[in-house]
Amino acid sequence: MEASPKPMNILILGAGGFIGSNLIAHILKHRDWHIHALDLHGDKLAQHFPHPNLHFKQGDMRGSHAWIEEQVKACDIVLPLAAIASPATYVQNPLSVFELDFECNLDIVRLCVRHNTRIIFPSTSEVYGMQAGQPCNEETSNCITGPIHKERWIYSSSKQLMDRVIYAYGVHHNLPYTLFRPFNWYGPGLDNVWENAPSNRVIATFLHSLLHRRDITLINGGAQKRCFLYIEDALEAMMRIIENKDGAATNAIFNIGHPGGEASIRGLAETMLELVAGQPGYSNIRNEIKITSTPGGDFYGAGYQDINTRIPDISHAIEKLGWQPTTSLQDGLVKTIRYYLDQKR
Ligand SMILES: NC(=O)c1ccc[n+]([C@@H]2O[C@H](COP(=O)([O-])OP(=O)(O)OC[C@H]3O[C@@H](n4cnc5c(N)ncnc54)[C@H](O)[C@@H]3O)[C@@H](O)[C@H]2O)c1
Repeated sequence: MEASPKPMNILILGAGGFIGSNLIAHILKHRDWHIHALDLHGDKLAQHFPHPNLHFKQGDMRGSHAWIEEQVKACDIVLPLAAIASPATYVQNPLSVFELDFECNLDIVRLCVRHNTRIIFPSTSEVYGMQAGQPCNEETSNCITGPIHKERWIYSSSKQLMDRVIYAYGVHHNLPYTLFRPFNWYGPGLDNVWENAPSNRVIATFLHSLLHRRDITLINGGAQKRCFLYIEDALEAMMRIIENKDGAATNAIFNIGHPGGEASIRGLAETMLELVAGQPGYSNIRNEIKITSTPGGDFYGAGYQDINTRIPDISHAIEKLGWQPTTSLQDGLVKTIRYYLDQKR
């Protein structure tokens, strides 16, 4: 545990999700900072409730304006992590995505402007859209989305517009900000893979199928490729952004991903099948399940559109934060699978 001269106060909204719960566990273990946290659900944080530095409030951001403003005023840093990030919802209920991801978070951005509090906002690799070819770069890549009737782009567009709004507040109203763009982070605490099938994250969805010995369904054959980053590497990047040594993260945008962690979705399914087959009780799984495929439109709805590949250019994070990932996809998947199996032992 590192003691700070003046312990930091951090407000985290959407604190009980995958990134929030992992970040909070990490901070409580390694720093003496105080965390003020809000989420609709506290299940993933419950083990930390006795910790004196965690101040958790269960509630909805939309009805907590006065409480949030009080915290924004008192805290050094605000991390608004609450969002809907589920492709099925982009297509089935796009307005709910816009309302939470953009409108609701815009209130938080404006509170940060009013109280001059530093904001660290989660953008997404999705803002690069269908930008193809070269790895995505924060400064030079275009952000290209599809036609309006392809409703899946509402998430990317909401996040992209928020990036632009935050950037403009930084330039024109001196808002201190950092935007980070996660590229498919995964690891323990992703989703509850033992209950309902998760709808949003491919690794959790495949694990749900595998651990329940059910067929895996690929979308459009699974030729699409993504780069996967293990959560421990991601947390190291987050800590460097939060600590902001020499102002390296001030008014900056960072891709946080693993260019070497690329796999096709079919390759990912096959690797995960092999890894689960190596776990006690699952040695026969290759004979018990099949890997099948379905068209994206049938699975998500007509407003779905796929992206073939998306590789992060992380030179900016290497140069400014001195950060780069060290966990291979294979090692990260093994740790993740073991974490979920341990929940049942
Ligand atoms: N995980 C990734 O790989 C990834 C990739 C790109 C972008 N992001 C962005 O990072 C952020 C965090 O992602 P995550 O993976 O932790 O998501 P998550 O879905 O696991 O967590 C979001 C949390 O927000 C909470 N929440 C939702 N609506 C709320 C409300 N009205 N009031 C209070 N809490 C509410 C949810 O209960 C949930 O715990 C999101 O903005 C997401 O878009 C994540």
